Amino acid sequence: MQDARTRQRRIRKAVFPVAGLGTRFLPATKTVPKEMLPIVDRPLIQYAVDEAIEAGCDTLVFVTNRYKHAVADYFDKAYELEQKLERAGKAEQLELVRNVLPPGVRAVFVTQAEALGLGHAVLCAKPVVGDEPFAVLLPDDLIWNRQKGVAGPGALKQMADLAEASGASVIATQDVPREKTGSYGIAATESFNGRQGRITAMVEKPKPEDAPSTLAVVGRYVLSPRIFDLLEATTPGAGGEIQLTDAISALLREEPVLAYRFQGTRFDCGTHIGLIEATIRHALDHEALSDAARETMQRALGEMGVVDLD
Ligand code: UTP
Repeated sequence: MQDARTRQRRIRKAVFPVAGLGTRFLPATKTVPKEMLPIVDRPLIQYAVDEAIEAGCDTLVFVTNRYKHAVADYFDKAYELEQKLERAGKAEQLELVRNVLPPGVRAVFVTQAEALGLGHAVLCAKPVVGDEPFAVLLPDDLIWNRQKGVAGPGALKQMADLAEASGASVIATQDVPREKTGSYGIAATESFNGRQGRITAMVEKPKPEDAPSTLAVVGRYVLSPRIFDLLEATTPGAGGEIQLTDAISALLREEPVLAYRFQGTRFDCGTHIGLIEATIRHALDHEALSDAARETMQRALGEMGVVDLD
């Protein structure tokens, strides 16, 4: 009995809603999906996929649109490239190409015919997820848990552990300045016990003066499958889109939903400056690039008169 319950709670499936239009990165996103923009040498989607696999997920569900062949191509086997690398004896590069998806992990693609919102995109994954708790990751939120070069557990791993132990849905949150509440879903909570607090209300993109708190929802969720029924009953909300926040508001009236202040740094790679910051930080931390990156940045800042080179 204990085993059956434990098995039921294990988070095995991760949903990646990648069917948005990515208008903030036009014209690049006219042909390159936002999730394929690179941070140093790996696309954003790879960082999110690695985080899901580390958390124990073995089924990755990509919700794409009909223009996003690049995401499916990226996770497909690249026979010709692999053959060429093998013949050229480029073992290291071959390993990189093959490890895009490790053995035992499967990728499933579902199409969102129309960009009707994040909630609608998650609902499109219902036939694959079925009746079990699952994760949602928004790849443009890149979360990095490193301190002084040492990696700690990823945000989703931290959340999956909590969800599996408590049986609750868990939502990643972060404190933001009050003037920024209009860019996020904002959660009101009971008092926090360590990093977690039960959510009592959620509001999508409130004006600073209307926000119930400054605790913002960021792009990692572990959700009960009940969310699918609630999404089906959700009518278009803010911006005419079917909002995941609205369905979570309904969920928390029925089941416990925890806000979780994850350990790690989040880069909002859905914005220009977030993508630039993530690139700089990853370059500075990169084994082979950090010295050159530091030197380049110092020189650039010196030449622009921002820092004194002497
Ligand atoms: P965003 O709000 O960042 O929208 O979506 P966007 O289209 O990706 O980017 P901008 O704002 O136009 O630049 C949040 C997440 O929800 C997905 C997006 O792909 C992104 O991962 N999404 C959004 C969908 O999959 N379908 C939708 O209909 C809307």
